[in-house]
Amino acid sequence: MLPPAKQAEVLPIQAPRPRGSVISVEDLSVAEIGEVLALAARLEAEDPLRRMNRLLKRKVALLFYESSTRTRTSFELAAKALGADTALISSQSSSIEKGESLKDTGITLKSLGAECIILRHLSSGAPYLLERATGLPVLNGGDGTHEHPSQALLDLRTMLAHLRGGLTEVHEKTLEGVTVTIVGDILHSRVARSNALLLPRLGAKVVLCGPPALLPEIATQIGPGLAIERDFEKALAASQVVMMLRIQAERLAGVHLDLEDYKSRYQANAPRMAAFAPEALLMHPGPIIRGLELTSEVADGPQSTIAEQVRHGVPIRMALLARALGADGEVAAPPVAKAAKKSPAANPRRRA
Ligand code: NCD
Repeated sequence: MLPPAKQAEVLPIQAPRPRGSVISVEDLSVAEIGEVLALAARLEAEDPLRRMNRLLKRKVALLFYESSTRTRTSFELAAKALGADTALISSQSSSIEKGESLKDTGITLKSLGAECIILRHLSSGAPYLLERATGLPVLNGGDGTHEHPSQALLDLRTMLAHLRGGLTEVHEKTLEGVTVTIVGDILHSRVARSNALLLPRLGAKVVLCGPPALLPEIATQIGPGLAIERDFEKALAASQVVMMLRIQAERLAGVHLDLEDYKSRYQANAPRMAAFAPEALLMHPGPIIRGLELTSEVADGPQSTIAEQVRHGVPIRMALLARALGADGEVAAPPVAKAAKKSPAANPRRRA
């Protein structure tokens, strides 16, 4: 066996990770989470022309190996709102179909000038490989059953809007006294994982709820401070926030689940919400399956924040992009367009 000094010499040198990558919620300290929230608020309120200067003509690639509506569209709109040029590559209709590896696709995008890549991939951990292959900041748009950090951040922004008056300065006790119950297919949910890792760091109590087939006991080890409650109604009665999850039919092979039994125990329906959690926020990352994990009445009802969560996605993703590309500081005002300058002809009062 080599002595310790020699051993260190033979270990591969790890390149430092690119600044601005967010692959896990753990890539952000609590202070940085606060910075992202504050930046999201600033960018949302900023004059759209000034905002366009932040990433004007910078190149952002969206690399999507899995279907997506909300995440893809809001990242794209966020990049465009900052003035960036975007290129969308999806696994259908690209060389991925011809067998090109993630590494080579990443190198190709970098050669084309991409400065940041947003990746959605079916394999957990794929964003780390892409980050290493390209040296570019990677924003994780959901990888397998691992994480979906931008979703957890927009969920946090939604909670803060309702429970803390839109506060952005967060700390370890910001969500003290708030119980968030995450219900359903925890086993396959990257949204559940990211929220379960994020919210307790801000003081929230996170309770996981579902049948053993979708929520094995080991799930409490996702992170510190997690509890399991199998009885949905009991969990509801203790919750300020209820986060429903989609049953991921595409990942259910080998899992035995009686859907009728599931609905009878775990569906968020109007009588259940009225009886056990009439004041709680009803969240869902989407896509929702009406009539399965929740009823239409609840999805469209007054407690639902589903549409609002989607709206929070754009400012959060603007902030992550601006941060990844170093455009999170002050920016110059846009040049005054010639047409906007006052001329006698353009001023109707002078003409009169
Ligand atoms: C989720 C996802 O793809 O991880 N949706 C989302 O991004 N808002 C959840 C799901 O697919 O059920």
